[in-house]
Amino acid sequence: MHVLVTGGAGYIGSHTCLSLLESGMDVTVIDNFCNSSPEALQRVQSLTGRSIRVIEADVRDAEALETVFSGPRIDAVIHFAGLKAVGESVAKPMLYYDNNVAGTFTLLQAMQRANVSTLVFSSSATVYGDPAPEHLPLKETAPCGITHSPYATSKWTVERCLADLHAAQPEWRIARLRYFNPVGAHSSGRIGENPSGTPNNLMPFVSQVACGARPKLSIFGDDYPTHDGTGVRDYIHVMDLAEGHVATLKYLASHPQGELLTLNLGTGQGCSVLDVVKTFETASGRPVPYEIVPRRPGDVPAYYADPSQAQKLLHWRATRSLRDMCADTWRWQAANPQGYDHR
Ligand code: NAD
Ligand code: WQD
Repeated sequence: MHVLVTGGAGYIGSHTCLSLLESGMDVTVIDNFCNSSPEALQRVQSLTGRSIRVIEADVRDAEALETVFSGPRIDAVIHFAGLKAVGESVAKPMLYYDNNVAGTFTLLQAMQRANVSTLVFSSSATVYGDPAPEHLPLKETAPCGITHSPYATSKWTVERCLADLHAAQPEWRIARLRYFNPVGAHSSGRIGENPSGTPNNLMPFVSQVACGARPKLSIFGDDYPTHDGTGVRDYIHVMDLAEGHVATLKYLASHPQGELLTLNLGTGQGCSVLDVVKTFETASGRPVPYEIVPRRPGDVPAYYADPSQAQKLLHWRATRSLRDMCADTWRWQAANPQGYDHR
């Protein structure tokens, strides 16, 4: 199978490219490198000993897509390319709708012209909004769409459009994968998450504190109705997530009559901010100083997945522990304190 991976140089994309290559698939990447480095793909190629066709272009560029699809036959597309900073999306909604929604439309039109109708779309648990406690753990049937940011709305909009497309053309094979909180890195320590500037997310912030690049972590609230008062999330190792994409492609390939899949990719385990901090300290052997500060506006107290549907259909499950997630993040952080920018 030859897979086109949009946004393949990014955090989840680079780990997924590695899994795809290791499972014998061929890979073409299209990425504009707005939030990534080509170095990630160099490292994936050296880790796997296999080559990737890399095209530097924007998914909103219809001509560039035409060129990609007129090359070697593409069997399936995994669409990671998009912007993901929730706060930035509030400040720049048009940028997010253009990149995430219009970008997906341009891609879908190019796929249609090229007669490629197998798509895996990166959605997010953010489509569940602020879930009521009785909906935990979250099943795919939980209420969706009451979104709290343009980022979340962009994911929900694309999910709805894909359902409409499948209803009109049921021969399409589409998976809408709702990721929970991806963290960790490949166990080699050669590829990992490479945030630019101050990290928005917990795990990269914790690892930068552990290595001394930042003095302390601010924990956003310790008065939530959770086991220790701090926010609870379903952290999933990025390699488990990557393997979930390979399993999804295999599932879609075995459904030639068409399919619309909607699946949670999570572990089913809720971990608090303090659980992450303590596990990271143990895994790294470094202290992670922190202070409790007020809640971050828009934060949800707790959410975690019911991943049973993905387990049943894909014969896939997340196997790596929180300890593995922290140890692998630390290995990557310690070996690459400046990310890909400084070798
Ligand atoms: P990332 O920013 O590391 O990767 C995204 C990649 O897409 C980058 O390489 C970027 O350069 C590229 N890109 C962005 N806009 C582009 C465009 N218009 N044309 C071509 N390339 C473009 O992010 P990630 O964490 O790897 O996330 C991948 C996908 O998964 C995103 O769609 C994101 O919304 C979704 N997602 C991420 C998380 C998370 O917490 N990381 C959770 C749920 C869903
Ligand atoms: C996790 C927990 C914070 C930073 C975001 C997006 C979501 C998805 C995943 C893409 C929360 C706490 C964090 C810090 C802290 N992305 N925290 N101090 O908010 O669950 O989800 O990333 O789809 O859409 O919203 O992830 O890593 O930011 O926060 O205390 O410096 O850590 O309050 O409880 P979140 P996160």
